[in-house]
Amino acid sequence: MKLKSQLNQSIKEAFLKAGIEDIPMSVSEATKPDFGDYQFNGAMALSKKLGKNPREIATQIINHLDFTGIIEKAEIAGPGFINLWLNPLWLATQCQIALEDERLGVSIREEPIKVVVDYSGPNMAKQMHVGHLRSTIIGDTLANLLTFLGDEVIRQNHIGDWGTQFGMLIAYLEMKNEDASVDLSDLEQFYKDAKTYFDADASFANKAREYVVKIQSGDAHCLALWQKFIDISLGHCEEVYEKLGVNLTRNDVRAESFYNDALPQIVSALNSKGMLQESDGAQCVFLEENEIPVIVQKGDGGYLYATTDLAALKYRSETLGVKRISYVVDARQAEHFNQVFQVAKKANFVTEDVHLEHIGFGMMMDKSGRPFKTRDGGVVKLIDLLDEAVMKAKETINNIDEYSQEEIENLAKTIGIGAVKYADLSMNRESNYIFNWDNMLSFDGNTSLYLQYAYARIQSIFRKYNASIEGEIVITDALEHRLAVMLLRFEDVLQRTANMATPHQLTTYLYELATLFMRFYEQNPILKEDVDAQIRVSRLQLANLTAKTIKQGLSILGIQVVDKL
Ligand code: ARG
Repeated sequence: MKLKSQLNQSIKEAFLKAGIEDIPMSVSEATKPDFGDYQFNGAMALSKKLGKNPREIATQIINHLDFTGIIEKAEIAGPGFINLWLNPLWLATQCQIALEDERLGVSIREEPIKVVVDYSGPNMAKQMHVGHLRSTIIGDTLANLLTFLGDEVIRQNHIGDWGTQFGMLIAYLEMKNEDASVDLSDLEQFYKDAKTYFDADASFANKAREYVVKIQSGDAHCLALWQKFIDISLGHCEEVYEKLGVNLTRNDVRAESFYNDALPQIVSALNSKGMLQESDGAQCVFLEENEIPVIVQKGDGGYLYATTDLAALKYRSETLGVKRISYVVDARQAEHFNQVFQVAKKANFVTEDVHLEHIGFGMMMDKSGRPFKTRDGGVVKLIDLLDEAVMKAKETINNIDEYSQEEIENLAKTIGIGAVKYADLSMNRESNYIFNWDNMLSFDGNTSLYLQYAYARIQSIFRKYNASIEGEIVITDALEHRLAVMLLRFEDVLQRTANMATPHQLTTYLYELATLFMRFYEQNPILKEDVDAQIRVSRLQLANLTAKTIKQGLSILGIQVVDKL
């Protein structure tokens, strides 16, 4: 249900009937129940233009409003606001329609597009770090959401699988292999050891550089070893994906190395368009004079991160034919993307109509506001973090004796992983966010646990009622009214979240919905004996739609619900 556009449509019709063609602004959600359900502020904006008092214009609009459908009542307030109340009969019917629809009344986009969501993108041979956690969680949510709204989403995991570190790894492997076959299961440690040698031993470092050249020139033996490193490393990442329950598979990997063959053409294309300039031996694009240029080829012939991203942009626009490319990457790369996008458009690697966006996010901090590290200052292994989440989640389970061991494990996973994801998604992504176990695993406040609890609570009502919950919705009081309006806002919220790639708008909505439901439930008993049977059935419907909306919303965030908590 596109609630806002329906209301805007009604307002527009009233304007047209009043003989005004040029309609400014649109309705917004009322900030207080006294102001109705929605407000329209356009009369003020129009007053100058029409040379009329805004209250006069507002009166004129109200006189032409249709009160037989969505709107029940309209009032002028203050200097010329129009407060709008929705019609309870209309609300009831729309909620009923949503309830009977498996998409909860959320329509499929009229003009779905093909989209690339570029997310996760860990660097091979190193551990995935917390920055990749944020990218993975936010990116997966965006991809789920766009898919739900009907877009054709292509997930792209742009892993860093190319670079000098692989020469180092191979040199170290060859050295170690002389004594025994090497265990690579702890690739992280292996990388650290190799790096120690690399820094300390000049002849080892030279060997490493020779291997880099060999990999780059396609030496079969070296490439096979390189591939082995990638496989192991990617396997580690996939363990994290599996634990997190994100939808990334090997098929979604389009590694940096995938674009290797296209890199020389990128440079020559830039050259033939007259966009290249040599600076200190390197090939550069200067977007603005005296600004830091985009380096696309080093003096020794090597290519850079930006060159690969240009090739990827070209591939995504030309070969995949997408119309929106969303890069879910650390905010500190904003300048990189800003430049690369400009170069790609200027060089026509990407057609004009492709929307390019960097979905940046801040850093993850610890409680004391410092970048998130282990106690000894090391990088936190994601896999350990997730295991800890599951362990801590066990402590939150009430009446634990009622569950089997297997149920406890599953429940802890759903709660713990959900908490880590939700804590991240519920923050405005652009700010740094403080990772705090106690807050994220709390039953109170804007947490996944609170929403999972609200969902389970509704399921327990149904279990107690233990009969068919089907029936008609009737809106009989103010809280029911507000709950119905809130439920019907779902599509507007999803659209806004998708357009701005801001998952926290969805979490805020779900939290408001659950809070409202809890209030509603406290004040409007459902199962008590003295409740009229028709009202009881109606309230069960509203409860059901609330539960379904929470479930659907959480599922877009990649979080599961439980029936009992
Ligand atoms: N590997 C990069 C990093 O760890 C992230 C890749 C993001 N995607 C991209 N197309 N540049 O910083």
